Amino acid sequence: MNWTKLLPLTLLVAGSGAYAADAHRDAFGKLADGTPVEAVTLTNGHGMSARVLAWGAILEKLVVPGRHGPADVVLGYDNMDGYLKAPNYFGATVGRYANRIAKGRFTLDGKEYKLAINDGPNALHGGRKGFDKQLWTIAKVASGRDSASVTFTRTSPDGEEGYPGTMQLSATFTLTETNELRVDYRATTDKPTIANITNHSYFNLAGPASGRSATELVVTIPAASYTPVDTTLIPTGEIRSVAGTPFDFRTPRRVADRVRDGRDEQIRIARGYDQNWVVTKGPTRDVHLMARVKDPASGRVMEVLSNQPGVQFYTGNFLDGTAVGKGGTIYRQGDGLCFEPQVFPDTPNHPAFGSARVDPGQTYENRIVYRFSIAK
Ligand code: GLA
Repeated sequence: MNWTKLLPLTLLVAGSGAYAADAHRDAFGKLADGTPVEAVTLTNGHGMSARVLAWGAILEKLVVPGRHGPADVVLGYDNMDGYLKAPNYFGATVGRYANRIAKGRFTLDGKEYKLAINDGPNALHGGRKGFDKQLWTIAKVASGRDSASVTFTRTSPDGEEGYPGTMQLSATFTLTETNELRVDYRATTDKPTIANITNHSYFNLAGPASGRSATELVVTIPAASYTPVDTTLIPTGEIRSVAGTPFDFRTPRRVADRVRDGRDEQIRIARGYDQNWVVTKGPTRDVHLMARVKDPASGRVMEVLSNQPGVQFYTGNFLDGTAVGKGGTIYRQGDGLCFEPQVFPDTPNHPAFGSARVDPGQTYENRIVYRFSIAK
């Protein structure tokens, strides 16, 4: 091989910044007070792209190849107005404590903390102005041969929404040349506190614009048990076997098969699926499989992996057709599926569920991988 001939070409490619995986930032919109909101778009050389907003570190768009071409597979809005008026946690980074805390109360080192109540009698998804409703800083944007990424950072002040301790947060979205979107949430604190940070994307691998319900998708969740809830969607504390119930996704099952199975009290309470599956006993060192989703028509397959023990599987039961999303599509019950890797809901009030505690000197970490492929 004549390297001298190849060299100028190599330099040209590197010099122009024309990496296979590219990241670029541009304007997305404005907040009510005129503050600009930027977005970062990650693209790879295999037909995938992801756009993430500095507002709420929201995954706004995720384009994934399928048998018959690419489609945007997440619910969301074309402009800031939608995210401000009817956010629904579409694509959002949720914290400081994703999911519910009973009556918004928990005790740490003998002291009781009171959080904002924003979901019936409970605290949900970090409060009235959780991480999803904050402007994050774009700290780093990187293009590369194997991946492109963006890191958002934010300081969550001591006492924000009632949580103790100042937290330094980062959210890194990485799109790889192997068609994985990785989301790394990290947090440190200056006082003992609790954390449960996750991503709340609603997926429809058929493409929300296709008119096909996400309940037509085939889901696998490798979990033998789940945490049933009371009528306010707080876990009762029981860890119940999925065997013989609509919650058994250990073998692939179309969501629609049992999402309307009103013989099951838990389906009735949640109006579909909105529970936490017990995938592992506690957080793991490496990521493990939490869910596999397949769209038989487009062949799109998504695997969700994380180092977290639980996955909240939610079938968009509260979507009532009032949100007008991207391309003017309205979103109705079952139009998107959420897989939220996390510690179990209300863990601070259930010692048997493990711990959500973070101490100074520790780094909280939720590593999520959404891995895409096309079934043969
Ligand atoms: C989570 C909850 C649901 C609902 C959605 C947001 O998935 O478990 O009950 O609050 O968020 O609408």
